[in-house]
Amino acid sequence: MRRGLLITFEGPDGSGKTTQIERLKAFIIEKGYDAVLTREPGGTKIGEKIRDIILDKDHIEMDYMTEALLYAAARAQHVSQIIKPALAEGRTVICDRYIDSSIAYQGYGRKLGESVRVINEYAVKGCFPDITFLLLLDPEIGKIRIRTEEMDRLELEKLDYHKAVFHAYEELGKLYPDRIICIDASRSIDEISNEIQTHIECLLG
Ligand code: ADP
Ligand code: TYD
Repeated sequence: MRRGLLITFEGPDGSGKTTQIERLKAFIIEKGYDAVLTREPGGTKIGEKIRDIILDKDHIEMDYMTEALLYAAARAQHVSQIIKPALAEGRTVICDRYIDSSIAYQGYGRKLGESVRVINEYAVKGCFPDITFLLLLDPEIGKIRIRTEEMDRLELEKLDYHKAVFHAYEELGKLYPDRIICIDASRSIDEISNEIQTHIECLLG
């Protein structure tokens, strides 16, 4: 059986990933394919517990390397328990954030550099995305879209941090142009989903 497609969504907080993922899932199912929707950090019982530890607003003392390792730990569990088995069954997996989030937020944002890539190569066990939609939106606009009372520890970080993450994403887009599709996320929900669907239609054949 043909291995399924791994589609990931990336971008700053509030850039519209969740909105677009829901639409893409409906589109793929309409085309007669099966799609598994999942997210990081999380996606498994263990991963959701790790997510709570990472995003808890009270954990202001968390060391940056602890944070990077926790994201990678949740990812390792997610890959072995959900992503790899689904791909092996020929299913399409749509994942809200993946390895590029760690490279952007921990590697560049927390300035942990190459170490983040190394630990994540262990975590993903050779399971890299086939295509990544990078929703590029000015982090100031993303912040306005998210309701302040719902913000987690990462979302509450200073704007400078989010700007560094945004520039990191732009760099990743330039480094991997064959895999990463850069999308102008300041446009309407319909315009963005039409662009994404065009790319996916080509891939599904
Ligand atoms: P993310 O998952 O990237 O944090 P969401 O999909 O949750 O982003 O969107 C954050 C907020 O912005 C939601 O209230 C959503 O309805 C809204 N939103 C999403 N896409 C757009 C868009 N293209 N234009 C305006 N608002 C949007
Ligand atoms: P999530 O709730 O999915 O973000 P969003 O607000 O875009 O819906 O993710 C929670 C936070 O975790 C978000 O600020 C990005 C951050 N994050 C990392 O720093 N590294 C990672 O590897 C991942 C997967 C997420």
